[in-house]
Parts: sequence; structure tokens; C-alpha cells
Amino acid sequence: RKKVTLNTISSLYHKNEPITMITAHDFPSAHVADHAGMDVVLVGDSLAMVALGMEDTSEIIMEEMLLHCRSVSRAAKSAFIVGDLPLGSYEIDPQQALESAIRMVKVGRVQAVKLEGGAEMASTIKRITTAGIPVLGHVGLTPQRQNSLGGFRVQGKSVISAMKVLEDALAVQEAGAFGVVLEAVPQEVAALITKKLRIPTIGIGAGNGCSGQVLVQVDMSGYFPPGRKIPKFVKQYGDVWGESMKAITAYRDEVKSRAYPAPEHTYPIPKETLEEFEQ
Ligand code: KIV
Ligand code: NA
Repeated sequence: RKKVTLNTISSLYHKNEPITMITAHDFPSAHVADHAGMDVVLVGDSLAMVALGMEDTSEIIMEEMLLHCRSVSRAAKSAFIVGDLPLGSYEIDPQQALESAIRMVKVGRVQAVKLEGGAEMASTIKRITTAGIPVLGHVGLTPQRQNSLGGFRVQGKSVISAMKVLEDALAVQEAGAFGVVLEAVPQEVAALITKKLRIPTIGIGAGNGCSGQVLVQVDMSGYFPPGRKIPKFVKQYGDVWGESMKAITAYRDEVKSRAYPAPEHTYPIPKETLEEFEQ
């Protein structure tokens, strides 16, 4: 498969063909996403929780994001790779944001960066895109701002709030973003925003009226222990944790019972050598 570029994404958008996006956080998760033919792989800062066990995304630092981006980039040979700018790496001013974006490209080996925020981030997005680094916006529910949003809440449920999401998406578009993630927004609001924009919207918890969809891989593939709460919008397509649990339990049992390793898992030695060795 040919490498997905901004041109590929733009042509999918203009053909009205949904853009497929999924997160990856390391070599194997990027490898499988790439082989499955995903258009875009996002190294989301959600890896703070799903790969590093942190409480939320506010804890992850640039160096940790860079390490994960590098491993993803070694596996995702076809997918377009977007890396999340972590909290603290872009809010101070456009200069700081550009320096962080450059590190993500140079060290993280990503093809684009994503940052959270709408109108207030316009000058920052403009600074990064004019430097030649594509930016994916992210409006609606912006998890890095959970404290000021009052938690993980659906955005755009009132007229004022829906207008704000629309204005944020438009501002992000005018600033030069190649697309925008709409997170946790009512489906009708997301569909209307999608109609009003001339760049693709990538929905997560935003219904099927968006130009594309994104999910956190660990959530959609079921690579988490039973009992973990996943958001309403996630469809769990697999049970990777269950498969892994089965495999590791079987291995453990076979080691205990000495069923593993069997003769076919061992290396032969010539009979004469063995006889001599045993003397
Ligand atoms: O960090 C992440 O995984 C994200 C997506 C869910 C959009 O930002
Ligand atoms: Na994120």
C-alpha cells in the first residue's frame, strides 16, 4: 500500500469516503493498525492511561510522547501518523508550540501534530502550519481541559455550547488545520459542523455524520481488564485482553504440568555427541 499523505486524506474527503483513524502507542499496536489498512494512526496522549497506567493525560510529558511516537513510526509504514502535543507543550505561546511540533516531527517521526482547543489556539495553529507542519485540530470535549470543563462531559448540548463548538471548528479551519477532531458532541451538531466546514471532521462520540472516525485502539479491541469502564460511544470489536489472558493462562498451566516445552520445541543433539557428553 502506498503511503497515505495529506493529498490522500483530502481526496478521500472530496470523494465523501470516510477517513479511518485509530490510536496506536507502540510498535505492535501500530503494526496491526497499519496492516489493517487504517488511513491515519494517531499517537494519542490517551496512551498516558492505556499504555502507562496514569490517571489522566495531564501527567504525560513530551519525552514520553516522543518515545511512543518513535516506536509507532517504525511500524506505521502506510498510515499517515499524527502525534498529540501533550499538555504543557504548546499553550504558552505559538513559539513554544512550534518548537514542540518540530520535536514531534524530528524526534517523534510523525507527519502531523494534533492539539486541543479552538479559537484561542488559532494563532498557534497558524504558526505551526505556516512552518510546514500539518495540524489536526481537536474541539468539543478536550480531555486535557477536563478540570475547566468540569469533567468528561458532552459538549454542544445547548445552543450556546453548540455555537461555540462550531465557531471553534471554523477558527481551527481558518488557522490552517487540515482537519479537526470532534469529540463527544451530539450527532446532529457534528453533522451540521461537518457540512459547514471545507476540511474533514474526525468524530469520536460524534455520530456518523462526520468525515471520518477515530477510536482508542485499546478500547475498541478490548485490550483492557474486565470491569474497566469505557465511554458510551466505544464499540468493542474484540477481546484482545481475553485472548491474551487465555494464552498466558494456558502457558502458565503447561509450565506447571511440564507439558511445555514438548519435544518439538527443543533442539536435537547427535546421539554420539550425547553419549560422549554423558560420560
Ligand atoms: O488521545 C487520544 O487518543 C485522542 C483521540 C481519542 C482523539 O485524542
Ligand atoms: Na488526545
